[in-house]
Amino acid sequence: MKKIYVITGSTSGIGKALTEHFALKNTVFAGYRDEKKVSTLPKGVIPFFIDSNKPETIKQAAEFIKSKTDKLDTLINVSGCVVAGAMEHLSVDELRRQFEVNVFAHIDLSQQLLPLLENGKIINISSMSSFGIFPFIGPYGASKRALDIMFNALQLEIKKDIKIISIKPGAIATPLWEKSINENKKSFSTCTEYQKEIKFMVKNAQSNGVKGLPVAKVVQTVAKADAAKTPRPSYTVGFDAKVAELISHLPQGILNQLIKAKLRQRTKANVTV
Ligand SMILES: NC(=O)c1ccc[n+]([C@@H]2O[C@H](COP(=O)([O-])OP(=O)(O)OC[C@H]3O[C@@H](n4cnc5c(N)ncnc54)[C@H](OP(=O)(O)O)[C@@H]3O)[C@@H](O)[C@H]2O)c1
Repeated sequence: MKKIYVITGSTSGIGKALTEHFALKNTVFAGYRDEKKVSTLPKGVIPFFIDSNKPETIKQAAEFIKSKTDKLDTLINVSGCVVAGAMEHLSVDELRRQFEVNVFAHIDLSQQLLPLLENGKIINISSMSSFGIFPFIGPYGASKRALDIMFNALQLEIKKDIKIISIKPGAIATPLWEKSINENKKSFSTCTEYQKEIKFMVKNAQSNGVKGLPVAKVVQTVAKADAAKTPRPSYTVGFDAKVAELISHLPQGILNQLIKAKLRQRTKANVTV
């Protein structure tokens, strides 16, 4: 049966792959922020403008969707960015931007579309960073954890029949990695005492952008969760995400020692993972 989807971040990486997949047999409202990329969306989708940094565009997006349908099957919150750098130096404005894009915009759009989602699903693209084990991308990990916690609270509270699912991919080969290097250059340059670590992180990001898992793995997991009558609240994608989940259960002190030792070893050897 044909279903109706709303997908944000449809113009790149995971969101683009999800849009292409679900548009084959369904109606898809596809969110974009860059007008120039609309022509790259698959034929038949219904594009809508949304800029996570501008709440008025989220309201307009929800109103546009509501003007076209009174029922949605699945909302997939995908759009995201990475704020990286040393916590010692990162500006609070940058932390706010991270939460605006990765958390508040998703909550805002979801709240406005909840009336259309009775018997439907909300699928959030979280991250293995939500397990909170990665240095120098603290804001990103915190935003994904906050996303998971707030949507889980919504799941616990809500009286409507809406299933909320968190997808936590490990490293996936998408443009996100290169964007994260370019968008954080200024923050990186202020980390004078952490240059060795930043150099390692950048090299690692470049490698993940190429050697990460294909987006198809995320599509597979999202499609499985979307089709399930009783989906799990959380799915990891990739071995690295499974390991991250497993070790996150260690006592914090032991975990911190392990991560610091690994970082020291990696920055000394200057190798990529
Ligand atoms: N790649 C990974 O390894 C990985 C792993 C775990 C989780 N994730 C998560 O997966 C999601 C998709 O990431 P991706 O890897 O596919 O990266 P991507 O290719 O960079 O896609 C990110 C999407 O979000 C959109 N976006 C960014 N900032 C926005 C804003 N202010 N307003 C509206 N849209 C905005 C981008 O628009 P443009 O097309 O205009 O740039 C793009 O379509 C993100 O939430 C990310 O955190 C990725």
